[in-house]
Amino acid sequence: MVCAKMLAHAMKHPRSGIGRESECAAQVRKTSHMTATVLITRTTPKTVDAVAVPVGTTGTVPRSLGLNRAALAAVGFDGKLGQTLVVPSGTGPAQIAIGVGAPGALTVQTLRNAAGAVVRAAGKRAVVATNLADLDGVDAAKAAQAVVEGALLAGYRFAGIKKEANTGALTQLVLVVGEKRANGARIGSERGHATAAATVLARDLANLPPAYMTARNMAEKAVAVAHASGLTVEVFNRDQLAEMGCGGMLGVNAGSVEPPRMVRLTYAPRNSVGHVALVGKGVMYDSGGLSLKPSDGQIAMKMDMSGAAAVLAAMGALKALKCKVKVTGYLMCTDNMPGGNAVKLGDVLTFRNGKTAEIHNTDAEGRLVLADGLSLAVEDGPDAIVDIATLTGACMVALGTKVAGVIGNNQSVVDKLRTASTATDEQIWQLPLEKAYRKQLDSNVADMRNIGGPPGGAITAALFLHEFVAEVPWAHLDIAGPMSVDADDGWLSKGATGFGARLLIEFATNFVK
Ligand code: BES
Ligand code: MN
Ligand code: ZN
Repeated sequence: MVCAKMLAHAMKHPRSGIGRESECAAQVRKTSHMTATVLITRTTPKTVDAVAVPVGTTGTVPRSLGLNRAALAAVGFDGKLGQTLVVPSGTGPAQIAIGVGAPGALTVQTLRNAAGAVVRAAGKRAVVATNLADLDGVDAAKAAQAVVEGALLAGYRFAGIKKEANTGALTQLVLVVGEKRANGARIGSERGHATAAATVLARDLANLPPAYMTARNMAEKAVAVAHASGLTVEVFNRDQLAEMGCGGMLGVNAGSVEPPRMVRLTYAPRNSVGHVALVGKGVMYDSGGLSLKPSDGQIAMKMDMSGAAAVLAAMGALKALKCKVKVTGYLMCTDNMPGGNAVKLGDVLTFRNGKTAEIHNTDAEGRLVLADGLSLAVEDGPDAIVDIATLTGACMVALGTKVAGVIGNNQSVVDKLRTASTATDEQIWQLPLEKAYRKQLDSNVADMRNIGGPPGGAITAALFLHEFVAEVPWAHLDIAGPMSVDADDGWLSKGATGFGARLLIEFATNFVK
């Protein structure tokens, strides 16, 4: 039966379908972003649109550029890291000089940034060749991975919901690599393609408008990803969550007409060498609930599912990367709305592990859905749990928009994340799990309240989560700051960043007990 409300919704959202459940489901439009392909060749093909030529601050300038050092200097190009100069040529491909800084100072980071700068300088050109991955100083596989990541991620642009889809121009990256490094480059470029594609998926999910990416849409997407990448997937609906005692999920969802979904993904390689659980905050839209956010604070809140997006994206890449570790992923998906049935301040929720919390602010909802997710993850008996969440404005105030917070009960897990973060150039900074602040969460009525006093908001949020991890080694990533950028910046493209997808991949694939 089609109710009046559904019809009204369908008229307001012309692309929405009328769902099987009584609630109205907006359909996910195919926005799947075409990730550029990568080709490895020995020599530069003649048919490409641009050729990027690395130039250091000293040393020889490759003759193919057609300009010597004096001519470059005359137009202000001195080979500084990330500097670009497009040299148009009559009929052949444009030559792009890309600064790589002092010879001998090359790193994976600078290569990723340089490749990003090349793609930005290439503009509308679709096929770009470069020998950036062939320079001495960085291992061939690592270099190729970084160059592919930098190029593909800088080349990303959210297609948007526009009459004319508006995606990035890059369709193919050609890596020109000599014989000696070709094998390494091939391995690295495949890795880079997988990690970049994962990040693109996480960006797409977060960039989609809330009516296009509901909890149900997210679960559908998770099923599709699981089927395409060898994961087992289980989707839990509201009734099942109730039966499981997931009062955090139900409480946050109570004010919404959109039903919640919890998704459990499993990657189980033969003879796995360890087991990691990942838990992602999937608040599909965070209005704040009855503790309503002001309008300005709501516009970014379609991205409040960035943690769940990072978990889904990372898990989708594990098989291709031959990860040896078993990984279980939980996507805790619901929106946070102030409907007539919404949780009220003073209400008490009971979580999966039996603990209770008195709600003092319905806008502190991420920790409530994570509480159930962490409790479930503990039951799987993993060697480590990592949760990832756009959790607190306080963390953004502390660390800004470039750096995520990391807080844990186990230094080894935190350090493994820090090592991974150095490799992927997704910066994280450790904050203390300061137990002295726990009393800020004390409640007369329940085991805890869901907010502390304003000081140390990122830490009290982590102390809340700590109640749900039992004795399992655990670390929490607060990605509220770096979940999005206002403008293109290196390999980051305006909008959702997909922060954490590559970090979790790096963490999981290198994990040892
Ligand atoms: N999703 C927000 C945190 C957030 C804010 C993420 C800005 C990204 C950008 C979270 O649910 C929230 O509302 N947190 C509150 C907690 C407070 C009520 C204790 C906050 O940070 O204000
Ligand atoms: Mn909130
Ligand atoms: Zn939130």
